[in-house]
Amino acid sequence: MPIRAWFPTFIYCEPLQPSGLDRLNLELAEECRRLRDFDTAGRRWSEKNYPGGYTSYASMNELHRFSSTFADLEKKLTKHVRTFARALDFNLRGRSIRLTDLWVNIMPPTAAHSLHLHPLSFISGTYYVATPRGCPGLKFEDPRLDRFMAAPPRVPAARRENQVHVTYPAQAGNVILFESWLRHEVPANRVEAERISVSFNFNWS
Ligand code: NI
Repeated sequence: MPIRAWFPTFIYCEPLQPSGLDRLNLELAEECRRLRDFDTAGRRWSEKNYPGGYTSYASMNELHRFSSTFADLEKKLTKHVRTFARALDFNLRGRSIRLTDLWVNIMPPTAAHSLHLHPLSFISGTYYVATPRGCPGLKFEDPRLDRFMAAPPRVPAARRENQVHVTYPAQAGNVILFESWLRHEVPANRVEAERISVSFNFNWS
């Protein structure tokens, strides 16, 4: 082949564990909702910055340090991140990967999360706790989009790796990992039920 692909962007998607996901997610969903009831500062912050929804991103973003449920989730997530970091060929120079932030997102009908990236970390991701049928997925953008300049648009049937967006469906029990600089968004939730996820950042230190 005269043409080769270089500089790929990797996204990881895998169930958190082989079994017991339903029970774990019920427990997590309950804890997420309890947190929302309790976290007045977070609800206030969300009103301004996360319209229609609730996130503990600005108020309680180290949940793994305060709750055994989330500490347990941290352990499980770390295994996946280690696998992903290995696949990315990172040389951690004897340091280890470490979860720095972990927070809850609850998206009732109409809530959306606009394009963003995750500063101050190297691998980020989301774990899905409750994903009612038809709720929005996680939409990633080609990181080179702002350099396309005069490039023509892609044909609708473009090869998968040539598309400028990809949406991973939100599936309860799945972990999605990506490099923290990769921009992504969650389109508005159009179903009559809450979509619940836990997002997190990893550093190496
Ligand atoms: Ni995000």
